[in-house]
Amino acid sequence: MRAVEVVASALAADPTRLGLELEAAEHAGADRVQWDIMDGHFVPNFTFGPHVVAAARQVSRLPFEAHLMVEEPGELLGAFVDAGCERLIVHAEACRQLHRVLGRIGELGAKAGVALNPATPVSAVRHVLDLVDLVLVMTVNPGFGGQSYLSSMEEKIGEAARLVTERGLEIQIEVDGGIAPETAPGVVRSGARALVAGTAVFGAAGGPAVGVRALREAARKGLVGA
Ligand code: DX5
Repeated sequence: MRAVEVVASALAADPTRLGLELEAAEHAGADRVQWDIMDGHFVPNFTFGPHVVAAARQVSRLPFEAHLMVEEPGELLGAFVDAGCERLIVHAEACRQLHRVLGRIGELGAKAGVALNPATPVSAVRHVLDLVDLVLVMTVNPGFGGQSYLSSMEEKIGEAARLVTERGLEIQIEVDGGIAPETAPGVVRSGARALVAGTAVFGAAGGPAVGVRALREAARKGLVGA
């Protein structure tokens, strides 16, 4: 596993050529794909269903993770595992029974991640860290790509990273929202080791190969300063 992983957010891929976009992300060296699943309730947007992920699974060799920005995701877990996602990330704010939902993901044979909106403290997940291998610190308010990065989240990224280190847990800190070469050094310096990027990958001038390379170079700068 690389020191810092680049995760291509499918939200920013051209939906009219999704297969080709995922192929380009793979050739660019992205480590995995994140599917931004939105239900129009937890966030004011609506995106992919399991059938789109399952179709993409037929043409991409990259690992898939689903970022479930949906209310009460418990009923959807099996569908996204069956569609080919090896990790499911649910929001702490969207689950009345978060511990139970995370345990259910493990029972389905998938890896579990938990996401925190900008206003949600790290303490909201301190009692479920034994059930996850990833904590996603949102660096925008979820719902749309292309938003401005919230630098105020760097303190929270550091808090999450310290908590994981103190507990001696193998948990990756992932960040999502406005991640670009300009913002990557700061999140990596704070402790992020997985960078979710849509605009900076699929919207990069020169395409994903240029975008992924620029993110990796920026991440290296952050590691030097970490
Ligand atoms: C949250 C979404 C976006 C997306 C990345 O609404 O999860 O953060 O993946 O968006 P960019 O990289 O375009 O800011």
